[in-house]
Amino acid sequence: MKARVFSGIQPTGSPHIGNYLGALKNWVKIQHEYECIWGIVDLHAITIYQKPEELRQKIVELAGMLIAIGLDPAHTSIVVQSMIPAHTELAWMLTCATPIGWLERMTQYKSKAQAQETVGDGLLQYPVLMAADILLYQAAIVPVGDDQSQHLELARDIAQRFNSMYGETFVMPATSLPSVGARVMGLDEPDKKMSKSSTGPNHAISLLDDPKVITKKIMRATTDSNPAVDFETMGAGVKNLLAIYQAFTETSDDHVKAEFDGLRYGDMKKKVAAAVVAALEPIQVRYREITADPGYLEGVLKASAERVSVFANDTVYKTKRAMGLYTA
Ligand code: AMP
Ligand code: TRP
Repeated sequence: MKARVFSGIQPTGSPHIGNYLGALKNWVKIQHEYECIWGIVDLHAITIYQKPEELRQKIVELAGMLIAIGLDPAHTSIVVQSMIPAHTELAWMLTCATPIGWLERMTQYKSKAQAQETVGDGLLQYPVLMAADILLYQAAIVPVGDDQSQHLELARDIAQRFNSMYGETFVMPATSLPSVGARVMGLDEPDKKMSKSSTGPNHAISLLDDPKVITKKIMRATTDSNPAVDFETMGAGVKNLLAIYQAFTETSDDHVKAEFDGLRYGDMKKKVAAAVVAALEPIQVRYREITADPGYLEGVLKASAERVSVFANDTVYKTKRAMGLYTA
């Protein structure tokens, strides 16, 4: 039997090249090697207020984007988290086996909580729901970007604690990070990770940005006071642009060095922009085709939810039995 894989992406903002290089591109690569379930995690999105009409639209758009990047719904499941009640059921049972202190230590919680006037309980519970997403499918591998590493360690801790309290119930999930692109930085602030919520006009490249916009953003990206690429002394901005190039073109370190060493920044940026545009253009064409037929997307989401629910319900049943809850 193929090992199972789960990963998720929130339907907030606009998916960017950080999401693509850190996670989505890998999802496409491994979709035939494993039994994969990809979650559009709308219940995670609402840990921060989302405008209802916008959220609904973004869920469908994200489903379209996941297919446009190359996920094949005939072989792989694309599910909307809130369509499968087992996610929330399992999350509650895991909540009861999770010490609060573990959650309060999460760096993403601390930084998100700081930005809120009042902190919703959901923000604290966020990583328990994430653990539930993974453990629900007994996923052995979770391909994510580097910013999710701490949450995944916590998912393993929760699984271990539950197993030792109630007996072997959950498979221990392993984190899988890409070798290049696990942490794409903001183009304007190369010391901060590229994020959907940052508002700077040149911060992120959306997967749907027009080629002209992509080129403009890269030409304006922050570099350093050197005039040309120097692999010994280059700063975070140049390093980030070269990592973006390498991840998109899937070339070796030696190739990147030979191609860019000594190149003036203007010329380096033109090459990086051309590589990003070449990779995103076909995705954008497919996206427009797919989203022209919302009925098709609805069908995909419904079929996926039906396919995975049997397994998800089975895990909920096992967990209830393990805890002594009543099952008919
Ligand atoms: P999110 O948009 O937060 O739901 O993230 C979806 C996926 O993209 C997760 O696996 C993240 O780790 C990954 N990701 C988000 N931002 C970045 C980034 N700047 N660099 C690399 N991976 C990222
Ligand atoms: N928290 C993840 C993020 O923001 C999304 C996510 C939710 C996820 N559930 C998951 C990722 C389960 C991997 C596995 O990027």
